[in-house]
Amino acid sequence: MKRNGMCPICYLKSLFVKKTVDEIKDEPYLNNGRRTPLMGWSTWNTFANHVNEDLILETAKVMAESGLKDAGYIYVNIDDNWQSGTRDKDGNMQADFATFPRGIPALAKDVNALGLKLGIYSSNGTLTCEDMPAGLGNEEKDALTYARWGCEYLKYDFCHNIKISKYAPLIYGIEITPLGTNKSEKYLCSNAKLEGFAKFMSCKKVEGGSIISGLDAGKGKAIFKITVKEAGDYVITALVRKYGRKYDKYLTVKVNGDDSYSITCPGQKKINVTARFQTIIPLNAGENTIELFNPVSGSIISAKLQYKKMAYALINASKQVAEENKADIKPITFSICEWGFRKPWLWGYSAGNMWRTTPDIKAWWPWMMLIYGRNVKLYEHASPYHFNDPDMLEVGNGKLSYDENMAHFALWCMMASPLVLGNDLRNITKPVLDMVTNKELIAIDQDSLCKQAKRIIKGKVDVLAKPLEDGIAVCFFNKSKSQKTFKFNQEILIKDDYICADELSGYNIKNIVGEIAQDDGIKATIPGHGVVVFKYIKK
Ligand code: GLA
Repeated sequence: MKRNGMCPICYLKSLFVKKTVDEIKDEPYLNNGRRTPLMGWSTWNTFANHVNEDLILETAKVMAESGLKDAGYIYVNIDDNWQSGTRDKDGNMQADFATFPRGIPALAKDVNALGLKLGIYSSNGTLTCEDMPAGLGNEEKDALTYARWGCEYLKYDFCHNIKISKYAPLIYGIEITPLGTNKSEKYLCSNAKLEGFAKFMSCKKVEGGSIISGLDAGKGKAIFKITVKEAGDYVITALVRKYGRKYDKYLTVKVNGDDSYSITCPGQKKINVTARFQTIIPLNAGENTIELFNPVSGSIISAKLQYKKMAYALINASKQVAEENKADIKPITFSICEWGFRKPWLWGYSAGNMWRTTPDIKAWWPWMMLIYGRNVKLYEHASPYHFNDPDMLEVGNGKLSYDENMAHFALWCMMASPLVLGNDLRNITKPVLDMVTNKELIAIDQDSLCKQAKRIIKGKVDVLAKPLEDGIAVCFFNKSKSQKTFKFNQEILIKDDYICADELSGYNIKNIVGEIAQDDGIKATIPGHGVVVFKYIKK
């Protein structure tokens, strides 16, 4: 007997080959959000769960008046704990009634009036990290709420996440019904073409006597060709043979190449043998291709699909709100906060504008060095609209020395990181303000090429080089506690295929932090835990 067109031996062999039907395309996520790394302030690092409307407004005023806004810090981001612990009677998110008494829309207006944008926070889970209501399963509703409120940034955490099941339901067919009618057409599974490990199994208890199994974990696919007379919205019903009472089952429904539809079936107790699960899909007049499969082979793809769901809900929500208000679209920059456990640098560009690469930062030097050590390796993954995020700034917090604060800020700028201040701006000191408004460092971070620096030398002194539109930024970072004199062979900049410097005589050198000496090559004295930064500017 032939299975999926394969001879018995070929079929047996195929069982030992690791296969995945990689059907989820990785188009870059383009929502017109922030093109260069985001700049702003967030409540979390200093205020944690003590947030309120006065704090946000007082901080926004300081940002507008102290030169921070002019330096580029325009996002005012409320992190966790802004929410009321319950949704409203229609299931919509609502702010804490006491700490945000006027609600978020009024606050957003006030923040906008200062020339700033309001950011908000939720989680790709059933609750946030502070156990407040969150977005998983409510993506469209919540995206619309945030867009209607006028938010222009969403940080989306990963606490209380529930992984998508890697199992697919057993189906004995599908039904297609024009929405709003009862004129269903049934396509039993004998109509399907199967791929990969998907196979027909006989089952006398269902209509047609056969079910499709093997659609699990990216390993197989069922394809139906459906012809309808008129284009429009249709209901697709998966006709399911019940099994597996303890776990959910999941199917991506890819309609004419668009894989954004899905059906989830909860664990099924077997009182009756069959069940129906539906979603609404658009069909074209004439022939349509519907592919059914479960692409979830592990936790990475599950997270990616869930982040994509919110990412596209945000695009749709901003469009809808622009139509409702007859106004321009206000894009919502989307920040993935999955802490780097599921390699978001490999898929974040398809699901958001920035992605945390590490667990939470702390104003503690050894910990910050671990964060730097991981993030610096990921330089190839930054591009316009898409950035690695080594977490918010701790400049001015904890017991960091002046040189450590400067190194932290300069390294984040070299790594094209989002610059989100995490201190109490109402009490910012002059040295900290001067540091975070350093125009030259900010210009390096915000350079229009959007490239992250590469570590071209690793040692007690690391050397980072960042290609810029008008040249190259170089940072010497002294990781040891004591001051070091360092000699640099600049030829490496020409040889390196990421930096691709021209002949060095074609550049002028400009000091940015500290000073270099240029007699016999390039030399600098770098403070312990400190940096020297300079720029090669094209002549
Ligand atoms: C997680 C995030 C933090 C912060 C908190 C809020 O830990 O990584 O940045 O948003 O949740 O609860």
